[in-house]
Amino acid sequence: MARLDILVYPDPRLRTRATPVEAVDDSIRQLAEDMLETMYEAPGIGLAATQVNVHKRLLVADVTDDRSGPHVLINPEIIEKDGVEVMEEGCLSVPGFFEKVERADHIRVRALGLDGQPYEMEAEGLLAVCIQHEMDHLEGKLFVDYLSQLKRQRIRKKLEKERRLKPQTPDRAPAI
Ligand code: NI
Repeated sequence: MARLDILVYPDPRLRTRATPVEAVDDSIRQLAEDMLETMYEAPGIGLAATQVNVHKRLLVADVTDDRSGPHVLINPEIIEKDGVEVMEEGCLSVPGFFEKVERADHIRVRALGLDGQPYEMEAEGLLAVCIQHEMDHLEGKLFVDYLSQLKRQRIRKKLEKERRLKPQTPDRAPAI
């Protein structure tokens, strides 16, 4: 297993629209495992492949306190939704910011599992919110998009400033 680097807003790669997973093979299963590890270590309750710069329709989530409820959703589709839930959301790609967002309170989702077989699941409350948030990532959308332009700009400026202050680590070893 490996921990993956998480892209931070306003990184333009977070705006990429993910493409469907064509085949659930070992590389996809490895990716899901690495994403779960990365999410738990962060710590977070959900992570979309987009956030680790893999632009495939895959997300992981676990809203339990003891890592007992991992979900892996491949090519997820919401087939039913109802109710209204307003929760304070955060995002591993928007570290340090939490804002209220309105979403459906109950959803029914169809996805492929790690065995490549389709399944359906129902989610409500926090898990429903989490899955909707992660599915937005697969569309290149972030929770800050639901906020006012003023709030979004404030968050963007603070994160850009933090990035400038942090020493930059090179993406790969220097060529010699
Ligand atoms: Ni997020």
